[in-house]
Amino acid sequence: MSSASKNGALLSTEGLTAGYVPEVDILTDVDLRVNEGEIVTVIGPNGAGKSTLIKSIFGLVAPREGRVVLRGEDLTGLPPHSITRRGMSYVPQLDNVFQSLTVEENLEMGALESGRAKDRIRAIYEIFPRLGERHTQAAGTMSGGERQMLAMGRALMPEPSVLLLDEPSAGLAPAFVEAIFEKVNEINNAGVTIVMVEQNARRALGMSDRGYVLDLGSNRFEGPGRELLDDPKVAELYLGGTARLDIS
Ligand SMILES: Nc1ncnc2c1ncn2[C@@H]1O[C@H](COP(=O)(O)OP(=O)(O)OP(=O)(O)O)[C@@H](O)[C@H]1O
Ligand SMILES: [Mg+2]
Repeated sequence: MSSASKNGALLSTEGLTAGYVPEVDILTDVDLRVNEGEIVTVIGPNGAGKSTLIKSIFGLVAPREGRVVLRGEDLTGLPPHSITRRGMSYVPQLDNVFQSLTVEENLEMGALESGRAKDRIRAIYEIFPRLGERHTQAAGTMSGGERQMLAMGRALMPEPSVLLLDEPSAGLAPAFVEAIFEKVNEINNAGVTIVMVEQNARRALGMSDRGYVLDLGSNRFEGPGRELLDDPKVAELYLGGTARLDIS
């Protein structure tokens, strides 16, 4: 058995501290644990550091302290392409497709080995039939929901074991929000471990094995998704109608 199986965690952050500007820490001592096969959701107010956490896991922001560990291997300081090769993919919150490229070209950009691209593209079209129907369309002319599916498809091209999703439902019409969450479930059922950040906190926690509440760059609450939903403090502070201001 691998060390990941022994301690239960497939992916973890240990005491992660990170920021963009010298001496300003955005994340402080963040511990996150993700077990194989789980869906784990991170919620928290705007500016809490959720995107920064995902970026730090994926090597886009260099941690100042702490570690990122995948299957027992320390990934801290590795660049994103090396992390992709180790089985982790990332879908950014914004600007996550190449607008002037077609759907199929976007998917090809996600391939690690060009020799396998055709098979992988076929597999992606099975998950997202809409992408197959529109494979020659320029990504920039797709609807928001279609673009989000394309971004997820591209991230799945290398057959990752862990998928990091930053706000997959942000800005989408209700029908697409539901479609995206169903796809996330489907991808998870196919064996991919999911870590997602979501504004749609109730819906996301409801389908998650576990969740974390991040506020001011630190862990505030963690637990099974349903328990967080039922926790009166979490509900009052982070799930209520007036607890957060969405200005995006
Ligand atoms: N590239 C950057 N340079 C400097 N500061 C940044 C940068 N990106 C983010 N920040 C700051 O880091 C803090 C956390 O931002 P982050 O994007 O991680 O929050 P978030 O929880 O994802 O918010 P949202 O819910 O709005 O997406 C904010 O104060 C933000 O202004
Ligand atoms: Mg964010």
